[in-house]
Amino acid sequence: MSNIPAARYPKTVKLKDGTEVLVRLMDQEDQDRLLEFFRGIPEAERVFLREDLTRREAIEARLRALERGRLLALVAEVDDRIVGDATLQRRPTHWLRHVAEVHVVVDAAHRRVGLAHNLLYELFDLARDEGIETLLAEMMSEQQAAIRLFERLGFKGEAFFRGLVKDLRGKKHDLVIMTRDLTAKRRFW
Ligand SMILES: CC(C)(COP(=O)(O)OP(=O)(O)OC[C@H]1O[C@@H](n2cnc3c(N)ncnc32)[C@H](O)[C@@H]1OP(=O)(O)O)[C@@H](O)C(=O)NCCC(=O)NCCS
Repeated sequence: MSNIPAARYPKTVKLKDGTEVLVRLMDQEDQDRLLEFFRGIPEAERVFLREDLTRREAIEARLRALERGRLLALVAEVDDRIVGDATLQRRPTHWLRHVAEVHVVVDAAHRRVGLAHNLLYELFDLARDEGIETLLAEMMSEQQAAIRLFERLGFKGEAFFRGLVKDLRGKKHDLVIMTRDLTAKRRFW
């Protein structure tokens, strides 16, 4: 994942409430800022996330993946604090080489003003530049805000696996898989 035009970031984006956020590529200096961000996400929501990103080792692993080019990641900042995180990760198998997984988390104080939408549209463009044709989003059925968000951005529900995944506390939940075709030109919003 490396075809990012140099001039693209950082860029300033104005949200629906007038807040200006700086959107930039995540870098190796972000470790502490990312920890602070993920530790600030309400615990009731964090249990549904794929990894426990309040652990320093988990953030380090993420930054290693970034360094090795396995991950493409954007952060949104306000006053030098991360308020949004969006990642794009290619699926490792050959037959899924045109597919990447997206993930987005937004600080509770900056929601419903279009930040996730903006970050995901940035990822759509980056993914197209990388030759990605299909985006995949996986979430637990309780993550209704995320399901609505992805629907709004043109993702379609593709699969539902009853009780397949476990949250961070070990409780089982249904897994929802949604996809979006990036080769279709239609714009939402
Ligand atoms: C899901 C999440 C990323 C949305 O972030 P956000 O910045 O608030 O989203 P946006 O403001 O861009 O919302 C875009 C649209 O998504 C939908 N949406 C977002 N949050 C919603 C909610 N709580 N309930 C219903 N619809 C919602 C709406 O259609 C919204 O448009 P509208 O505000 O004009 O109605 C955020 O709630 C979050 O971080 N949740 C916890 C982590 C998570 O579940 N991440 C997804 C894992 S892939």
